[in-house]
Amino acid sequence: MNTMQNLPISISSDMRLRFLQNDEKTFASTEEQLPLVIEPVKEKSFAALKALLKESAQWFNKQLDTYGAILFRGFEVEGAEQFQTALELLNVQLESFYHFGSAQRVRITDKVFTSSEAPPDMIISFHNELNMVPVRPSVLAFFCQVQPDVYGETPIINTEKLFLSLSPNLQHKFGNFPQRFERYVPNHLLEIVFEGLSREEISKLLQEQGFDFNWEEDGSLYFECSYITIITHPRTSRLCFSLSIIDCLVNREWYRNLGQRYSFGQRLYYNLLPTKLYKNFQQRLATAATVVDGSQKRTSTLNASFLNKDGQCTKMTEAEAKELGKAEWKNAAIFKWKQGDILVIDNLQVAHGRLNTKLKRKILTAFGNMCNIRDMKPALFING
Ligand SMILES: [Fe+2]
Repeated sequence: MNTMQNLPISISSDMRLRFLQNDEKTFASTEEQLPLVIEPVKEKSFAALKALLKESAQWFNKQLDTYGAILFRGFEVEGAEQFQTALELLNVQLESFYHFGSAQRVRITDKVFTSSEAPPDMIISFHNELNMVPVRPSVLAFFCQVQPDVYGETPIINTEKLFLSLSPNLQHKFGNFPQRFERYVPNHLLEIVFEGLSREEISKLLQEQGFDFNWEEDGSLYFECSYITIITHPRTSRLCFSLSIIDCLVNREWYRNLGQRYSFGQRLYYNLLPTKLYKNFQQRLATAATVVDGSQKRTSTLNASFLNKDGQCTKMTEAEAKELGKAEWKNAAIFKWKQGDILVIDNLQVAHGRLNTKLKRKILTAFGNMCNIRDMKPALFING
């Protein structure tokens, strides 16, 4: 197939449109049209990018709907302020709160944050940002301030393509069983998750968003909600699959595929350890990773499961988790970051993750155009 045929027609002679080339990717996949790349023809300055965004904000947003992600590459973008300016010119209503987040983030401007500081060897599995919350960003953006020498990719994936590549059984499960998210936040971590909010304000926020919640006697908080993860995109009517599968066996497929980045011992662990043992170890690791204050043993946890037709919680089977992990790998776009990159993502149709990284890497993030998943239509898909 000639993918060039699917490029939009440029509306300015100052920019060139293309898809990623093979030498910009770290792994080949079936995904060849994500993201749409915008690069300067001659003038690379930030002023040139600003002029383009100002002139054609509407056009860029249309492309974002169509392609799911846009990468501005090759422009001279220097810091958090310029990143924020670019997004504002795209008419993104940036959100200045990062409530419900689980990672400690540093605020660079009032609307730009550092991305997750998860341990470098760890792979963060695919998710849409703030997926466990009904009111979530419809636009998410990343800015590469310090380009990693190696690794540190932020893979992205078109969730409709991913969903359509799954077996009918798994499609049926995702399409019909609501996913339930249960979150537990101990007292001493409330400040990280609900930055600056009082207990009353947190209760109000949870109520507004339709969570069931409970304050425990020691001041810790338990809250949960559930919804179908397959929705119809409000503008394109395409299927969106909210990816937030918290299952270490999905990720295990990624560790296996990235084996050459890990030591011999780690490779054995990812490839050969029996499933049950692997799950056990991973659960213990996950618990250890969420301890923020060493003096307190209680950690913040997030559990996800599916509710079957009797309202009971079920987890994915081993085979289903493997299938999903393999399908993710096959459909993902995995590419190297370049200094100054701005990646704008439609957080409803496209999910993202993070591969293992080395220390020299600084990716900033911002999001906005908040929307409520409960306002969206469920997606119809042809399946028995
Ligand atoms: Fe994220």
